[in-house]
This record gives sequence, C-alpha cells and structure tokens, in this order.
Amino acid sequence: MIDEESIKRDYRVLSQLCGFLDLEALELFHFLANVLQNPEIPVLEIGVFCGRSLAGLACAFDKVPIVAVDPFFEDFYHSPAYEDEAKFLSWASNSMSPAQRKDHFWQVIDQLGSTRHDELKSRITLKQVTQESFLNSELGKSKFQACHLAGEHTFAGVRSLVDVFDELLVPNSWVIVDDLFNAGFPEISEAIHTHEGHRKSFWPVVFGFNKGVYLFRPDPPELLGEVKAELARAYSSSFYSVRFMRDNAIRVDKLAAEVAARPDVRSRLLKLLCKAPMFRSYP
Ligand SMILES: C[S@@+](CC[C@H](N)C(=O)[O-])C[C@H]1O[C@@H](n2cnc3c(N)ncnc32)[C@H](O)[C@@H]1O
Repeated sequence: MIDEESIKRDYRVLSQLCGFLDLEALELFHFLANVLQNPEIPVLEIGVFCGRSLAGLACAFDKVPIVAVDPFFEDFYHSPAYEDEAKFLSWASNSMSPAQRKDHFWQVIDQLGSTRHDELKSRITLKQVTQESFLNSELGKSKFQACHLAGEHTFAGVRSLVDVFDELLVPNSWVIVDDLFNAGFPEISEAIHTHEGHRKSFWPVVFGFNKGVYLFRPDPPELLGEVKAELARAYSSSFYSVRFMRDNAIRVDKLAAEVAARPDVRSRLLKLLCKAPMFRSYP
C-alpha cells in the first residue's frame, strides 16, 4: 500500500538535495515498486548528480540494495555533458565539489533513515565510475530488477546501455528513462525508439513526470497488461489525468491544483479527455 503522507515526509527531507526529482516522480517510483519489486535483486541508477533520485529510489524500492554509478565529475565542462547542460548542472549543484555533493548526500540519507527506521544507508552503494567502466568491470557479475537511466544524455550513451539490457536486467525489470521527452535532448528518445528491442524486449508502460517507464521481458507475457492496469488503477484514485495510448500504455499528468480541488471541473475535464481521439480516460 502507498502511504502518501510518508512519501511527502520523505520528499521534504530528500528535496534538500539539489537535482531533478519532483514529488510526483517519487510517487511514481513508489507505484512501480508497489506493483513489482523482487526482494532479492538490486536496483541500478546511472547518473546520480547530487543523489536526489537515488534517495527516492532507495525509499521506494525499500527491500533491496541500490547500486548507483556516476563519475562525480570535478568539472561538468569536462564531462560528456553538452556545453549548455554543463553550465546548467554546475549551476544546479550550487557549484558544490564532488566531495561536498557526496557528503551532503550521505547526511540527507542519515536523516531519511532516521525518520523511516530503515537501513537505508547500508543498502546504497555509490560507484564513482563512468557507465562505460561500470559495464566493463561489472557486466555479467550481477543483474538488476530496475534501472534508472539518468546519466549521459547522448544517443551513444543511452544506446550502449540499452544494448546490454539482456546481460544487465532480469525479466520483469523496470526500465525508467529520465528526460525521455525533454526537447533539449532528443537523442534520448531517438536511442530508445530506434532500438531494435523497443516493443520487442522492452515495452512501454507509463509516461509522466519527465520519465518513460518500460517493462523488460515481461514473463509471462500477460504480465504486461496486468501491470498497466494496476498502475492505471493506482493513478485513477488520485488527482491525475490518466490517458491510454493505442497499446494501453498510460500517460499520466498531474491536474492543476485548481482543477483537482473542484470535483465538478475535474469530471468535466475527464469527460473531454474521453472524447479525445486515440485516448480514453480510465476506467
Ligand atoms: C541530469 S544528471 C542526473 C540527475 C539525478 N539523477 C538527480 O536525481 O538529480 C546527469 C548525471 O549523469 C552523470 N553522467 C554523465 N555521463 C556519465 C557517464 N558516462 N556515466 C555515468 N554517469 C554519467 C553526470 O555526472 C550527472 O551527474
């Protein structure tokens, strides 16, 4: 069961960290973990920055180790980031050094752990390497049940991860792609949508909050439909608009506060969405 109050409480703590996870994305992590979480297999994040989404993953996937990979570049201008991204990341981290970013991360994890009575800290491993080195040294050694792709925003960076899904992920893994529809980084979407595994080995499930979520090798195949229906149910009970795509993958948007607060406006809006071509609202 999702406990919205504890999610909000965790969010108040983890949002001390610089970075790019909003409350809705944290809730998405919880919904995913609630629908499918294997208590024995770790979760992987590529691209930690200051650790905000890593902390969120650790809160949501609360039964497993979380491995996180980032070289913690001393200088984003000498990283694979595009120049404008480097400027943005440098600003968004409050110009903290890698050591300061890591220290702050562990402080916040301590705080989170104390409010959750959870061995949060002992479940998290930071690997200060690039994705390439991580894959070179670790690939084939352990497999993961979820991967948050939030690292290099280039076509080659995303593509090279997707290429090794079979060695990296167990069947029924979550693939969570950050910035999938960020118009500033079309290469991410291009790498995902042009990959031969798209809709063959990894299947669209839910899109929202700057992320696209896929299920890797659903087993049995019917699980894919069940998972989509379960997530749609979870979202239909809250203040979101839920729309179905042709393959029943779902698109979720948060309703504006003034709409969410007015049930009459909300129901009129949902009726309108029902009529939109290609989409129908749930149920
Ligand atoms: C947009 S930030 C990630 C945001 C983060 N997940 C959050 O919660 O705020 C992108 C991160 O990817 C990292 N990165 C860039 N190239 C990488 C690579 N080749 N391997 C691993 N991480 C990389 C950068 O150091 C940066 O911290």
